[in-house]
Amino acid sequence: MRTIAVTINGKAVSADVEPHLLLVDFLRRTLRLTGTHVGCDTSQCGACTIHVDGRPVKSCTMLAVQADGAEIVTIEGLAKDGTLHPMQDSFHRLHALQCGFCTPGMIMSAVALVQGRPDLTDAEIREGLEGNLCRCTGYHNIVEAVKDAARAMAGEG
Ligand code: FES
Ligand code: FES
Repeated sequence: MRTIAVTINGKAVSADVEPHLLLVDFLRRTLRLTGTHVGCDTSQCGACTIHVDGRPVKSCTMLAVQADGAEIVTIEGLAKDGTLHPMQDSFHRLHALQCGFCTPGMIMSAVALVQGRPDLTDAEIREGLEGNLCRCTGYHNIVEAVKDAARAMAGEG
Protein backbone atom coordinates (compact mmCIF):
# COMPACT_ATOMS: atom_id res chain seq x y z
CA MET A 1 0.00 0.00 0.00
CA ARG A 2 1.00 3.59 -0.64
CA THR A 3 -0.62 6.67 0.86
CA ILE A 4 -1.63 9.35 -1.63
CA ALA A 5 -3.06 12.81 -1.08
CA VAL A 6 -5.04 14.48 -3.86
CA THR A 7 -7.61 17.21 -4.27
CA ILE A 8 -10.76 15.93 -5.96
CA ASN A 9 -13.48 18.37 -6.99
CA GLY A 10 -12.12 20.86 -4.46
CA LYS A 11 -11.92 18.41 -1.55
CA ALA A 12 -8.70 17.09 -0.04
CA VAL A 13 -8.62 13.30 -0.07
CA SER A 14 -6.02 10.99 1.42
CA ALA A 15 -6.11 7.24 0.92
CA ASP A 16 -4.04 4.07 1.04
CA VAL A 17 -3.93 2.47 -2.41
CA GLU A 18 -2.35 -0.59 -3.98
CA PRO A 19 0.49 0.44 -6.32
CA HIS A 20 -1.25 -1.18 -9.31
CA LEU A 21 -4.66 0.52 -8.77
CA LEU A 22 -5.76 2.49 -11.82
CA LEU A 23 -6.84 6.06 -11.24
CA VAL A 24 -10.25 5.33 -12.79
CA ASP A 25 -10.79 2.48 -10.33
CA PHE A 26 -9.70 4.70 -7.45
CA LEU A 27 -12.35 7.23 -8.48
CA ARG A 28 -15.14 4.74 -9.18
CA ARG A 29 -14.58 2.01 -6.61
CA THR A 30 -12.80 3.71 -3.72
CA LEU A 31 -14.46 7.13 -3.88
CA ARG A 32 -17.75 6.04 -5.56
CA LEU A 33 -17.44 8.83 -8.14
CA THR A 34 -19.13 6.73 -10.81
CA GLY A 35 -19.77 9.53 -13.30
CA THR A 36 -16.38 8.66 -14.80
CA HIS A 37 -17.09 5.68 -17.05
CA VAL A 38 -15.03 2.76 -18.30
CA GLY A 39 -15.69 1.84 -21.91
CA CYS A 40 -12.56 0.06 -23.07
CA ASP A 41 -9.74 0.09 -20.46
CA THR A 42 -7.29 0.41 -23.36
CA SER A 43 -7.21 4.21 -23.72
CA GLN A 44 -9.27 4.31 -26.90
CA CYS A 45 -12.81 5.41 -26.00
CA GLY A 46 -12.28 8.44 -23.74
CA ALA A 47 -15.23 7.62 -21.45
CA CYS A 48 -12.89 7.84 -18.47
CA THR A 49 -11.57 11.35 -19.22
CA ILE A 50 -11.03 13.62 -16.22
CA HIS A 51 -8.87 16.68 -15.57
CA VAL A 52 -5.56 16.27 -13.77
CA ASP A 53 -3.90 19.58 -12.94
CA GLY A 54 -6.12 21.24 -15.52
CA ARG A 55 -5.37 18.89 -18.39
CA PRO A 56 -7.60 16.16 -19.82
CA VAL A 57 -6.36 12.67 -18.96
CA LYS A 58 -7.80 9.25 -19.71
CA SER A 59 -7.92 7.93 -16.15
CA CYS A 60 -7.58 4.30 -17.30
CA THR A 61 -4.06 5.15 -18.48
CA MET A 62 -2.78 6.41 -15.13
CA LEU A 63 -2.15 4.78 -11.77
CA ALA A 64 -3.65 6.29 -8.66
CA VAL A 65 -0.17 6.61 -7.14
CA GLN A 66 0.90 8.72 -10.14
CA ALA A 67 -1.79 11.23 -9.18
CA ASP A 68 -0.29 11.84 -5.74
CA GLY A 69 -0.35 15.59 -5.09
CA ALA A 70 -2.53 16.36 -8.10
CA GLU A 71 -5.64 18.44 -8.43
CA ILE A 72 -8.35 16.33 -10.04
CA VAL A 73 -11.72 17.35 -11.43
CA THR A 74 -14.30 14.78 -12.48
CA ILE A 75 -17.70 15.26 -14.11
CA GLU A 76 -19.18 15.47 -10.60
CA GLY A 77 -17.12 18.62 -9.99
CA LEU A 78 -18.31 20.69 -12.98
CA ALA A 79 -21.71 21.91 -11.78
CA LYS A 80 -21.50 24.63 -9.13
CA ASP A 81 -24.19 25.21 -6.49
CA GLY A 82 -26.75 23.28 -8.50
CA THR A 83 -26.03 25.16 -11.75
CA LEU A 84 -24.79 23.12 -14.66
CA HIS A 85 -21.47 24.04 -16.26
CA PRO A 86 -22.07 25.74 -19.65
CA MET A 87 -20.82 22.61 -21.43
CA GLN A 88 -23.28 20.40 -19.53
CA ASP A 89 -26.06 22.89 -20.23
CA SER A 90 -25.29 22.99 -23.97
CA PHE A 91 -25.13 19.19 -24.24
CA HIS A 92 -28.52 19.04 -22.53
CA ARG A 93 -30.24 21.79 -24.54
CA LEU A 94 -28.85 20.77 -27.92
CA HIS A 95 -29.46 17.03 -27.52
CA ALA A 96 -25.81 16.07 -27.73
CA LEU A 97 -26.37 12.73 -26.06
CA GLN A 98 -28.51 9.68 -26.41
CA CYS A 99 -27.51 6.83 -24.08
CA GLY A 100 -25.13 9.18 -22.25
CA PHE A 101 -22.37 6.63 -21.73
CA CYS A 102 -19.71 8.68 -23.52
CA THR A 103 -21.02 11.99 -22.20
CA PRO A 104 -18.97 12.52 -19.02
CA GLY A 105 -15.69 11.94 -20.85
CA MET A 106 -16.87 13.88 -23.89
CA ILE A 107 -17.75 16.88 -21.72
CA MET A 108 -14.47 16.79 -19.77
CA SER A 109 -12.48 16.68 -23.02
CA ALA A 110 -14.62 19.44 -24.55
CA VAL A 111 -14.21 21.75 -21.57
CA ALA A 112 -10.44 21.46 -21.82
CA LEU A 113 -10.53 21.84 -25.61
CA VAL A 114 -12.40 25.14 -25.71
CA GLN A 115 -10.65 26.93 -22.84
CA GLY A 116 -9.85 30.38 -24.26
CA ARG A 117 -10.86 29.32 -27.78
CA PRO A 118 -14.42 30.54 -28.45
CA ASP A 119 -14.08 30.39 -32.24
CA LEU A 120 -13.15 26.77 -32.86
CA THR A 121 -14.28 25.46 -36.24
CA ASP A 122 -16.26 22.25 -36.64
CA ALA A 123 -13.14 20.57 -37.99
CA GLU A 124 -11.06 21.69 -35.00
CA ILE A 125 -13.72 20.39 -32.59
CA ARG A 126 -13.93 17.06 -34.39
CA GLU A 127 -10.14 16.73 -34.36
CA GLY A 128 -9.94 17.80 -30.70
CA LEU A 129 -12.49 15.18 -29.65
CA GLU A 130 -11.22 12.34 -31.82
CA GLY A 131 -10.02 10.50 -28.69
CA ASN A 132 -13.61 10.28 -27.45
CA LEU A 133 -15.89 7.75 -29.10
CA CYS A 134 -19.69 7.94 -29.21
CA ARG A 135 -21.81 5.03 -30.40
CA CYS A 136 -25.09 6.94 -30.59
CA THR A 137 -25.12 10.52 -31.75
CA GLY A 138 -23.30 10.74 -35.07
CA TYR A 139 -21.35 13.60 -33.42
CA HIS A 140 -23.28 16.39 -35.20
CA ASN A 141 -25.10 17.65 -32.10
CA ILE A 142 -21.98 17.20 -29.99
CA VAL A 143 -20.11 19.60 -32.26
CA GLU A 144 -23.00 22.08 -32.09
CA ALA A 145 -23.07 21.86 -28.29
CA VAL A 146 -19.33 22.38 -27.98
CA LYS A 147 -19.52 25.49 -30.19
CA ASP A 148 -22.44 26.83 -28.16
CA ALA A 149 -20.65 26.22 -24.87
CA ALA A 150 -17.42 27.74 -26.15
CA ARG A 151 -19.25 31.01 -26.78
CA ALA A 152 -20.95 30.85 -23.38
CA MET A 153 -17.67 30.12 -21.62
CA ALA A 154 -16.12 33.14 -23.32
CA GLY A 155 -18.99 35.27 -21.99
CA GLU A 156 -20.48 35.83 -25.42
CA GLY A 157 -23.37 33.41 -25.34
S1 FES B 1 -11.97 3.46 -20.50
FE1 FES B 1 -10.31 4.84 -20.61
S2 FES B 1 -10.19 5.36 -22.70
FE2 FES B 1 -11.79 3.86 -22.62
S1 FES C 1 -24.47 9.09 -26.32
FE1 FES C 1 -24.37 6.93 -26.33
S2 FES C 1 -22.25 6.53 -26.60
FE2 FES C 1 -22.43 8.65 -26.85
